[in-house]
Amino acid sequence: MTANKQPEVNIGLVGHVDHGKTTLVQALSGQWTDQHSEEMKRGISIRLGYADATFRECPGLDEPKRYTVDEECPDGSESDVLRTVSFVDAPGHETLMATMLSGASIMDGAVLVISASEDVPQAQTEEHLMALDIIGIENIVIAQNKIDLVDRERAEENYEQIQEFVKGTVAEDAPIVPVSAQQEVNLDLLIQTIEEEIPTPDRDPESDPELLVARSFDINRPGTEWDGLTGGVLGGTLSEGKLEPGDTLELRPGREVEEGGQTEWRPVKAEIRSLQAGGDSVEEVTPGGLLGVGTGLDPAITKGDALAGRVAGPPGTLPPVHDSFTMEVNLLDRIVGSDEGEGEIDDISTGEPLMLTVGTATTVGSVTSARGEECDVKLKRPVCAEPGVKIAINRRVGARWRLIGYGTLQ
Ligand code: GTP
Repeated sequence: MTANKQPEVNIGLVGHVDHGKTTLVQALSGQWTDQHSEEMKRGISIRLGYADATFRECPGLDEPKRYTVDEECPDGSESDVLRTVSFVDAPGHETLMATMLSGASIMDGAVLVISASEDVPQAQTEEHLMALDIIGIENIVIAQNKIDLVDRERAEENYEQIQEFVKGTVAEDAPIVPVSAQQEVNLDLLIQTIEEEIPTPDRDPESDPELLVARSFDINRPGTEWDGLTGGVLGGTLSEGKLEPGDTLELRPGREVEEGGQTEWRPVKAEIRSLQAGGDSVEEVTPGGLLGVGTGLDPAITKGDALAGRVAGPPGTLPPVHDSFTMEVNLLDRIVGSDEGEGEIDDISTGEPLMLTVGTATTVGSVTSARGEECDVKLKRPVCAEPGVKIAINRRVGARWRLIGYGTLQ
């Protein structure tokens, strides 16, 4: 088997529940996602919905047939590696929008999966597309899935519904590729389209590394003796730079420490002991894919995602930490993604609680002053972010948080 290359681009799989995101990821990643080889990788893949896929081509064949994930071409020769991509499989259930939004902050592009066997749009088809729009993910491919379930006429009708639905959105010019993830139909054209539409971003390998921490773990089995304990593990993606074992990371905002009845947030420092990318232990990691970063931290600190939402980098290089901030507000025209009907969005008012997603961090904030296009928010949990960053704003409507717009950190 060819060695795993580190993935170089993160591609989100988004769309309504049961439209086939997971099936599509499985079809595209196939045998290369050996999820059970490493405990560290397993924890990350299964819980985050991550899978790496190596796209390949058979130079002797015409387009789109030349695109494949198989190592062997029909004539028995070995296919050439194009690149390894990492799929972030966003949950399609409406109650998991916060996970989808923080996942979206690490996507370089997205495949919007829409089932051909249902009317368009279903609730989270619309809400996820809105989220891509808000977070500014412009490189989008639409997979019109489950075409094996419908006849030609219905498939065409559904195709037109999709075109109508994306008009005026960030996906207006996104190509629509009819596929059957389950029957593995047209996946060659889908790979070709992803290769054309979702390029690997240009990154400066010399800039300071910045790790967006999406998960954190204690990978020790219960009952492990102290001298056999492995340090805490961080799961996340590098937005720039590179990391090597021996590097020191600072995590901000760190963790809440209580002393003499007072609580405060203190940065956490950690030495990198090991690195995993693409399922292998490596000596250096660069941006793309989900990385496992083994550290010297006490695993009690990293257990159960306790450090998710943090930003890590060389000490002194990270963006500022805010426990309150001012944001410029842009509200959507209406609430989307609800089966209970769509509603008008009232202005944000002083005193109301909001759920805010800033990068991979999700926090609740209370509005201390609302002034139309701007508002001040006091956060329950501080965030580490650069001014200008986009913030997804959710308001509680009925029983759940709904996406109502975005803010820009001042
Ligand atoms: P969530 O992760 O829960 O949002 O769902 P999902 O979008 O990942 O859907 P999933 O891949 O779990 O597929 C849902 C169901 O649709 C499963 O029973 C799949 O077998 C089926 N399915 C997926 N793709 C196809 C397809 O192309 N054709 C047919 N006939 N069934 C499909």
